Amino acid sequence: MQLAVIGPGTMGLMSASRLVAAGVCRPGDVRLSRVRPERRARIEALLPGARRLEDNASAVDGADLVIVAVKPGQFAGACSDLAERVRRDAVVISVMTAVRLEGMARRLGSTNLVRASTNIGIESGVATTFWIASPSTSREARNLARTVFDAWGDRFECGDEALLDTAMVGVGSGPALVLEFARAMSRAMETHGMPPALAERGILSLLRGTAELVAGSDRPPTEFQKSVVTPGGITAEALRSMSDDGFSEIVVNAFGKAMEKTAGLAAPGA
Ligand SMILES: NC(=O)c1ccc[n+]([C@@H]2O[C@H](COP(=O)([O-])OP(=O)(O)OC[C@H]3O[C@@H](n4cnc5c(N)ncnc54)[C@H](OP(=O)(O)O)[C@@H]3O)[C@@H](O)[C@H]2O)c1
Repeated sequence: MQLAVIGPGTMGLMSASRLVAAGVCRPGDVRLSRVRPERRARIEALLPGARRLEDNASAVDGADLVIVAVKPGQFAGACSDLAERVRRDAVVISVMTAVRLEGMARRLGSTNLVRASTNIGIESGVATTFWIASPSTSREARNLARTVFDAWGDRFECGDEALLDTAMVGVGSGPALVLEFARAMSRAMETHGMPPALAERGILSLLRGTAELVAGSDRPPTEFQKSVVTPGGITAEALRSMSDDGFSEIVVNAFGKAMEKTAGLAAPGA
């Protein structure tokens, strides 16, 4: 299967290398364009055998799958001459923030258009991907999109495109937000004497362990939480203090700010 990547940056390269690692396509079937000389060594290490094409139009020519991974503001320029070059039956998957299916349809020629909100977990096959396909997307194309998302990690199909922006903040920014919480936990431990390196390693282990524990059980996370809270005990005291200080509101407000920023990212000319 011929895979073209428009935008061989962080997300574009990781998504392609994961598809090769999962056997969805072969290294020699990956086509990249606009490869800066300083990136060649990294690309050769990550995607040995990938083909470097002159321009985006040559890269998508005849490709079965096209991944669009430029910044929203770069989309109109990157895809200005692709409408006639992308095969009508190719599957186009965008991982871009804020660029809507309607804008993709204007520039990308195919009837099989898929929008995905995902994250850097792609690299290790542990991404969380929310996705939606245009109504004209065929059953085969939807199945190929599912195969791609399974290679990247977990997938959740959305029925409403507006949810993709919410999902992008939730999972795209999510790793940074969760790590911010981890940093605050490490700081709390350090405040009470734990050496920084030990605190950091311990908290990361805690995050992994908690996620695995909850994921491996049928019980909802809130029930899990209750099971470690003794009324009047130390965990209850910490949770009460977090609630009194507006922990949830802080997170909800931060999310809202990111959503406002997303709305302002609508790609010019897209
Ligand atoms: N990074 C994340 O964690 C993350 C998570 C979820 C979603 N996303 C979304 O994924 C998209 C890509 O993000 P990123 O972080 O991977 O950005 P990035 O590293 O800057 O990659 C963008 C790539 O697009 C290339 N590019 C720019 N203009 C181009 C053109 N006209 N033709 C072909 N390629 C062009 C850039 O090349 P040059 O360097 O040569 O300009 C760069 O290689 C964005 O829309 C972002 O919102 C990112």
